[in-house]
Amino acid sequence: MIDPYGRNITYLRLSVTELCDLRCRYCMPEEGVCKKRHEDMLTEDETVGAVRAAARLGITKVRITGGEPLVKPNILSICRRVSQVPGIRETVLTTNALRLKDLALPLREAGVKRVNISLDTLDKDKYAYITRRGRLEDALAGIRAALSAGFDKVKINTVLIGGFNDGEVPALAELTRVWPVDVRFIELMPMPGNEDFGEEAFMPCSGVPEMLPDAVPEKGHDGVARLYRLPGALGSIGLISPLSSHFCAECNRIRLTADGHLKPCLHSAEEICIKGMDEAGVLEAMKKAIALKPRQHGALSAKEKSLSARAMNRIGG
Ligand code: 5AD
Ligand code: SF4
Repeated sequence: MIDPYGRNITYLRLSVTELCDLRCRYCMPEEGVCKKRHEDMLTEDETVGAVRAAARLGITKVRITGGEPLVKPNILSICRRVSQVPGIRETVLTTNALRLKDLALPLREAGVKRVNISLDTLDKDKYAYITRRGRLEDALAGIRAALSAGFDKVKINTVLIGGFNDGEVPALAELTRVWPVDVRFIELMPMPGNEDFGEEAFMPCSGVPEMLPDAVPEKGHDGVARLYRLPGALGSIGLISPLSSHFCAECNRIRLTADGHLKPCLHSAEEICIKGMDEAGVLEAMKKAIALKPRQHGALSAKEKSLSARAMNRIGG
């Protein structure tokens, strides 16, 4: 469906749970999130029904996110059913990789084509610090499992955090020479719930190329990422700059949260609830959500916070 600003909306980001087995400091509070009443969350049938409605409006790509989607007991069934919805050509998933060791192959078999893996550091103590509880070796085992499961693509997403992992940019970029992975550096976004990051933490991606003197810019772009490549590398390096450059003009996405709220824009408080609606109702709600997509979101910086009413774990990145 074409939105009021001429953008073709083809991409649904589907959060299937707010829960996570990590507590990344920029995403979730230490105590986690209070578990919502089961009856407030979308059921599997409602989730799949929403994807069917989305497909009727021209959605062709679904990204399954969380929280952490792999903590959801019925995740394989959701992936299988979503990938079989007529019109959905690509079912992809974002994960912290902790459970991929066991789930990579079943996910591939359930129709997931590609995975994005969140990894902010290669230092085990820093990994334990930023995630508040994770073990780097589990994430690395998950990445290896993903690489051998036969996905069309494995990407590693690193949130750039000044004073934390800016010194690791070269080491993380080197992963593209060791493994057939794309590594993407993403600017930290000032979301509700990550107020304790100081101004120095919001580091622009524009500083990355000078840390990678060998990296050669590539033509074109991958969605919202500007691409580079190290000589001889198996994968590309991508820079995603939600703060320093808007990509609103090319925005092709809409979001659905685990508790059934459509979000026309990541950084707006606007939401439309579809919980309990029949499929005709969901279809109308989705048309409305697409019609409500703003032309662009407001300024984002250390001082200018996102206007989203939700922290990231409740949206799905
Ligand atoms: N800014 C940028 N990226 C974020 N993510 C979570 N919170 C933020 C934030 N404030 C990323 C995670 C993961 C994806 C789900 O969203 O690192 O890659
Ligand atoms: Fe979990 Fe991802 Fe949030 Fe980390 S960033 S707490 S892995 S949802």
